[in-house]
Amino acid sequence: MFTNLRDDFPTLRGENAPAYLDNACVTLKPDSVINSITDYYSMYPGCGGRSVHRYGTQVSRLVSEARHSVANFINAKSTNEVVFTRNATHSINQIAKGMTWSEGDVVITGDREHNSNLVPWLQLVEEKGIDHRIVESNPDNTFNMQKFEDLCEEVGERLKLVSLSHVGNLDGISIPIKQITKVAHQYDALMAVDGAQSTPHMRVDVQDLDIDFLSFSIHKMCGPSGMGGLWGRYELLESLRSIQSGGQTVETSYYDSLKWAAPPSKFEGGLGNFAGMIASGKAIQYLSKLDMNAVHEHEIKLNNIITNKIKHLDAIEIIGPENANQRGGICSILMGDLPSHDIAILLDEAAGIMVRSGQHCVHSWFNSRGYDNGSLRASAYFYNTEEDANLFADTFTEAVEAFG
Ligand SMILES: Cc1ncc(COP(=O)(O)O)c(C=O)c1O
Repeated sequence: MFTNLRDDFPTLRGENAPAYLDNACVTLKPDSVINSITDYYSMYPGCGGRSVHRYGTQVSRLVSEARHSVANFINAKSTNEVVFTRNATHSINQIAKGMTWSEGDVVITGDREHNSNLVPWLQLVEEKGIDHRIVESNPDNTFNMQKFEDLCEEVGERLKLVSLSHVGNLDGISIPIKQITKVAHQYDALMAVDGAQSTPHMRVDVQDLDIDFLSFSIHKMCGPSGMGGLWGRYELLESLRSIQSGGQTVETSYYDSLKWAAPPSKFEGGLGNFAGMIASGKAIQYLSKLDMNAVHEHEIKLNNIITNKIKHLDAIEIIGPENANQRGGICSILMGDLPSHDIAILLDEAAGIMVRSGQHCVHSWFNSRGYDNGSLRASAYFYNTEEDANLFADTFTEAVEAFG
């Protein structure tokens, strides 16, 4: 269905295109994104938001267009609610370190969080004495609503923030954010969503979900490396402290005082990555032309192909429910005693298949279960084909049988 789009991606053109299945880490980039970076440096390499000459004005216009595209894509009420960041990690840190904490304030996260939605909270435990609680998943890694409600009830009015990944990079499982948000709000707590693995792959509507913050990785959305986004309700962004103050973050300053700029400027201190912002706009414009529900369905279809071909292998175990429909485009495989890094290298060298091996920055999950070997993860995107899925499943099966 998306096959004709493969021509838009330089790395997918020609005979030797890889079966690129490491999209949960970073996605490939289409021509429009790559060209916009060259255009910035070769045609208008100026500074947006400050200089008023032609270069500056052109950059300001394109950055504003990019912000508008992001706002539309996630259905933000206003472009001023969209902050460009370096990555989702930066966005989550901005929330964690920009809020005001008292000792004993509770933050709830899940037990399958990426380090980026765990370490900032552990840091606040160390530095501010917050109380970090973890809601335990069901044995198959799906969300346990009852345990979440019980935990909220136990901590009561001390609950200040719930911060959960919408879709886990560990296993592709999505959680019922809308329902969870309803509960969090009953306790007057804020709901922060780590959308690094959902925003690229499905329709994410911040108003419909009724959440308070959304962090996302633009480099996982066909955009440039080093770009992410933070969306927050405007009034919350107004009260959030900037973690990078300086140029761009104030309306004016005196020797002894300052007047903060309004969001999003307040959070975008220093000369921006203008090429990155403009290219982010192109990436989001590219995705905006796709039916995101169809993207999600396509990834599930490919995951079903992979799952059905490998699930019988005794030496391995797929993380999460056997049913691929519950794991989006991610098939993450526990390798037992098999050498997952060696198999990942072999897949690339023998058949041009690129996957990720290791603990995928979810060390806490693997460590708590003694899975030192991590997993081997195949993650699909709209440009992947049934041939990619079959090639991976068949070559992986051969490798497992050869090493086993
Ligand atoms: C669920 C999840 N959260 C956060 C991150 C961190 O994203 P970034 O690399 O943009 O900081 C990732 C990256 O893989 C992720 O998968």
